[in-house]
Amino acid sequence: MAVAPALQNSGIGSELVKTGLRKCTDAGYEIAVVLGHPNYYPRFGFKTAKSVGIRCEFDVPDEAFMVMELREGALNGRSGIVRYQPEFNDV
Ligand SMILES: CC(C)(COP(=O)(O)OP(=O)(O)OC[C@H]1O[C@@H](n2cnc3c(N)ncnc32)[C@H](O)[C@@H]1OP(=O)(O)O)[C@@H](O)C(=O)NCCC(=O)NCCS
Repeated sequence: MAVAPALQNSGIGSELVKTGLRKCTDAGYEIAVVLGHPNYYPRFGFKTAKSVGIRCEFDVPDEAFMVMELREGALNGRSGIVRYQPEFNDV
């Protein structure tokens, strides 16, 4: 995700995240993960994935890989490694 520098800090990034999460929820997804700024995403409800036993397949800082329930209780009993679609390996 990126917002043009001249337009940052005016709420666009927040609207993109909230709208994306709402669309995921509406589509029936139960859990969202994000690899991003550890000081930015917690405001939307994300928490460190490691704290709930979920890891990233990539070698990334623990605090940058976060997870969020889109349906209450969806993380209960879940743990393991999140595997991305192959396209992410080309980024
Ligand atoms: C991160 C980014 C998408 C946020 O978009 P935005 O439209 O500026 O965000 P909003 O206006 O909704 O929110 C602004 C808030 O985010 C905070 N913020 C912006 N970048 C941040 C960062 N890298 N780490 C922590 N907080 C950040 C601002 O300090 C501000 O905080 P406040 O609400 O407490 O004042 C934008 O800064 C960006 O495009 N950055 C460059 C690309 C990038 O780093 N993308 C993220 C990949 S995970």
